[in-house]
Amino acid sequence: MDYWKFYYRSHKISADNSLFSSFVKQFLEQGSSLLELGCGNGRDATFFAKNHIYTTAIDQVEEEITYLQNELGSEYLSFISGDFTQLQKIRDLKPPYDCIYSRFTLHSVSALEEKQLFSDIPLFLKKNGLLAIETRGYKNSLFQKGDSVGGQEDAFIYNDHYRRFVHFESLLESLKNTLGDCEIIFAAEDKGFAPLNGVDDYFIRILARTQRGGGASLEFSL
Ligand SMILES: C[S@@+](CC[C@H](N)C(=O)[O-])C[C@H]1O[C@@H](n2cnc3c(N)ncnc32)[C@H](O)[C@@H]1O
Repeated sequence: MDYWKFYYRSHKISADNSLFSSFVKQFLEQGSSLLELGCGNGRDATFFAKNHIYTTAIDQVEEEITYLQNELGSEYLSFISGDFTQLQKIRDLKPPYDCIYSRFTLHSVSALEEKQLFSDIPLFLKKNGLLAIETRGYKNSLFQKGDSVGGQEDAFIYNDHYRRFVHFESLLESLKNTLGDCEIIFAAEDKGFAPLNGVDDYFIRILARTQRGGGASLEFSL
C-alpha cells in the first residue's frame, strides 16, 4: 500500500492504456459493465470508459482514488477505494458485471486473499461474464528475486515491493473451480503481452467466460 501511495503521488494520471485492455475490449460490447480490480492511476479504466463501457474501478490507495474520481469521474466511469479481496465489504458496488478485469494485481495479494476473491467472483460476475487476468508467473524474470516472505509460497519482497508469483496451471485450475464449466477464451504464459522500456518479459494472460455467476445470492450475503 505504501509503495503505491508514494508512486501515485508522482504518477497521478497516465494517458496510455495497456495492451491487455485493448485485447479485452475486443470481447466487450458498448454499454456493457466492467469492474476493475486495482486500477492504479486509472489508465485502463479511462480507456474502457472512453469506449462506452460502464467502468467501476477499485484501488486501495484512497488519495489517488479521490483525485481520479474528482478529475475523471463521469457517467461511464467511477472510482471507488477499497480492498478488492473483500468485495462484499465495498458498499457502492452494483454487481453483477459483464467483466471483471485484473491487470498486474493478482500478484499483489496473498494466496489466501486470492482464494477469498475467487469465492466472491461468481457473485459479482454475470452469467456468461468475462474474467480477464494478466499477472506475473513463474517464468517472469523477477521470480525468486529478493527476500522470500515467511509462510507464503512464491512470495518475495524485491525493491521494497511485495509480489507473489502465480503458477499458470494452478491458476487455470482455480479458475475452473471458481467459474464452473467455463470457456477459456485465451490462456498463455508468454512474452509479447506487456513490453516495457524495451524489455519483453513473460506474463500470464487469461480470458475466461463463466457459465456460473449472475450475482444471484449476493442480496443474501451482503
Ligand atoms: C501494478 S499496479 C497495477 C495498476 C493497473 N492495473 C495497471 O495495470 O496500470 C497494482 C495496483 O493494485 C493495487 N492493489 C494491490 N492490492 C490491492 C487490494 N487488495 N485492493 C485494492 N487495490 C490493490 C495497488 O494499489 C496498485 O495500484
